[in-house]
Amino acid sequence: MIVTVTLNPAKDQTVQLETLNVNAVNGVSHVVETMGGKGINVARVLADLGAEVLATGLMGEKDQSLFQDYLGQHQIRNRFVTLEGSVRSNIKLVDRSTEEVTDINFPGFQACDENLDSVLNIIRAQSDVSFVAVCGSLPPGISMQAYEQFLLAIQALGVSLAVDTSGKALGAAIRVKPDLIKPNLSELSDWAERVMSQEQAAELASELSETGINDVVLSCGAEGAWFIHHRQALKVLPGKVKVISTVGAGDSMMAACLYGITRALPRKDWAKLATACGMKAVSQSGVGECSEEALTEYLASVEVREVGNKVKFSGAAR
Ligand SMILES: Nc1ncnc2c1ncn2[C@@H]1O[C@H](COP(=O)(O)OP(=O)(O)OP(=O)(O)O)[C@@H](O)[C@H]1O
Ligand SMILES: [Mg+2]
Repeated sequence: MIVTVTLNPAKDQTVQLETLNVNAVNGVSHVVETMGGKGINVARVLADLGAEVLATGLMGEKDQSLFQDYLGQHQIRNRFVTLEGSVRSNIKLVDRSTEEVTDINFPGFQACDENLDSVLNIIRAQSDVSFVAVCGSLPPGISMQAYEQFLLAIQALGVSLAVDTSGKALGAAIRVKPDLIKPNLSELSDWAERVMSQEQAAELASELSETGINDVVLSCGAEGAWFIHHRQALKVLPGKVKVISTVGAGDSMMAACLYGITRALPRKDWAKLATACGMKAVSQSGVGECSEEALTEYLASVEVREVGNKVKFSGAAR
């Protein structure tokens, strides 16, 4: 079983307006509410792919039933540590006349370091866990030191660990050396504290893949992704898709990586699947619907290039 951990879930409302008029009353023409947070997205795609999954993490008590309904609808087992308050909530105001998007982000619950012990106890109580994927940001109140200890404690359970996060949390994750990390280009550049080209970032990812992190997946949006295992790199290019929303592209990619590794698929195959799942995510407004049938067309357009241990190879990247 794969366990996904979401410490900072979110509720996203995309509100469509004909025109956004400031200083005036605005009528809403269409609203879509989605339950998110990276680990929740990963669990959703894993369930679609046919993996056994448990979603855990921290949850605001006011939104508990909303998330339980959502996860239940998709047959995703879930057990969260409930905290007082709501999850953070993001409102996207889409002005249809200009296609401009205005974001309004509300804060969510306040957590504390001890809450991580409760999440760890939930993970510990599961049997047959193969991979734990800790995804996304930290809520206010959790210290970086406690987060690092939490990651180490998961590793000490003897399960594989994947981490997808950014900023200081990515630094903590890299110190812990999980089995898999999936930074995107800007997250890895932030960690390195320098602006990097895709090739420079791939070189750095390749170096990281020798430090004890088995698989480093560097995703580069429409430019595809690098899948590097002990310096052996694959560059995988997606086909062209009409982009509807890029939300959850990386999460879908992460889910397919976990699926492939736990099913012992050849790396080339799961790298291709991960890219197709990323493409599927951008071609729709949410995540999921990653059935074999839905992915066929995307899989057919993916190109896998074997770069080997020469990530500086000039023809490797587009
Ligand atoms: N515009 C696009 N066209 C085709 N494929 C895309 C596009 N954007 C993303 N993808 C696919 O999804 C994968 C992951 O995308 P990306 O690098 O944007 O992840 P991310 O930044 O981690 O996303 P997020 O964290 O928001 O889920 C890419 O490697 C690619 O396969
Ligand atoms: Mg991401």
